[in-house]
Amino acid sequence: MRILLTGGTGYIGSHTAIALIEAGHQVTLLDNFSNSKPAVLDRLREITGVTMDFFEADVTDEDALDAVMADRSIDAVIHFAAPKAVGESIARPLHYFENGVGGTVKLLRAMDRHAVRNVVYSSSATVYGLSEDLPLTEDAPTSVINPYGRTKLMCEQILGDLFASDSSWNAIALRYFNPVGAHPSGLIGEDPQGVPANLVPFIAQVAVGRRPALTIFGDDYPTPDGTGVRDYIHVLDLAEGHVAAVEHLANKPGYDTINLGTGQGVSVREMVEAFERASGVAIPIEVAPRRPGDGPASWADATKAARVLGWTATRTLDQMTADVWRWQSHNPNGYD
Ligand code: UFG
Repeated sequence: MRILLTGGTGYIGSHTAIALIEAGHQVTLLDNFSNSKPAVLDRLREITGVTMDFFEADVTDEDALDAVMADRSIDAVIHFAAPKAVGESIARPLHYFENGVGGTVKLLRAMDRHAVRNVVYSSSATVYGLSEDLPLTEDAPTSVINPYGRTKLMCEQILGDLFASDSSWNAIALRYFNPVGAHPSGLIGEDPQGVPANLVPFIAQVAVGRRPALTIFGDDYPTPDGTGVRDYIHVLDLAEGHVAAVEHLANKPGYDTINLGTGQGVSVREMVEAFERASGVAIPIEVAPRRPGDGPASWADATKAARVLGWTATRTLDQMTADVWRWQSHNPNGYD
C-alpha cells in the first residue's frame, strides 16, 4: 500500500514511517514542521535507506491536500497531524479546534474527493476522562476534561458519523495510552519544544543535565507508592500497531475504536527507577502537589487490539528507558 502520514515527521509519525517501510509499504509524509524538524527526514533516510516522499504543508491547506492526493495513488491515510498539549489547549481552544478538528474535516473532505476512504486516526486514552474503571476497555464511557480531549472525541465522532453516512469508509481510531521510547538506533526520538509537559521526556532532560530535578506531581494518590500510574507503551510497539490497523482496513472494518497500550501500569517512581537503571544517572526528585486534571491511574485493556488486529505490545519498560536514554544522550538538545 501507499500510505499518507499527516504529521509524518512528528514523534509517532516518524517511528510509524519506519515500521510501515519495514512491513513493505510505501509512505508519503506530510508535515508543516510546527512540532518537528526537517532533520527527521535525514535521520529516516539513514535508518531505512529510503528517501522520504515528503510534502511540507499544513493539514488545513485543502489545495495542498488535493495536490498530494492527485499526485500520488494513496490507499490509506494515517492522520497524526494535530496539536497535543493539554495545557495549551486550555489557553488556546480555538487553535485546537481549528487544527485538531478543522484539519481532520478538511483532510476527510480531500480524501472523499479523491475516493480514498481508508483512515487510521490518532486518538488518545484521554477520551476516557478520569475513569477509574480499570483496565479501560473500548466500551468504557467517554468524557472530556479539556479542549484537547474534546478534539479527540469530536474527531472520533466525526469518523463514526461519516461511516454511518457512507459505508464505503473504513476508519479506525487508535486510542493511545502513554507513548515513550525511541528508535534503538538513537537517531530519532521525542524532541519536545520548551519545557516537557510529559514525564519521560522530562526525566530524560534531567538525566542529560538540561534540568536540575524532576518534580513528582503528587505522592498521595491511592496507588501502591502514592504516585500516578500510567500505561507506558514503546513508540515502536505503537508504530507496529498502526501497521496492523492500516492493514486491517482491507478487511472493511467500518468504524472502530481500538486501545493501544500494554495493559500494565507503571508508577512515576517505577519509571524514575527504570530510567536510573538505563542511564546510570541518579535522578534528583522533588515532590509537589498533584497536577490539576491528573487522575491516579490509567491502563488499557489491550485485548481488543490482540483479537482484532493480531497485535500486542512486546517491548519492556527497560527497553523503553534504554532507547530514550540512547536518543537523549546522543542528541542532548534533540534535533538542534
Ligand atoms: N508527572 C510528574 N512530573 C512531570 C510530568 C508528569 O510527576 O514532570 C506525572 C503525572 O502526574 C502523571 C504521570 O507522570 O502521573 C504521567 O504524566 P504525563 O504528562 O507524561 O502523561 P499523562 O498521562 O498526564 O498524559 C498523557 C498524554 C496526554 C493524554 C493523557 C491521557 O500526554 O496527551 O495521557 O491519555 F491526554
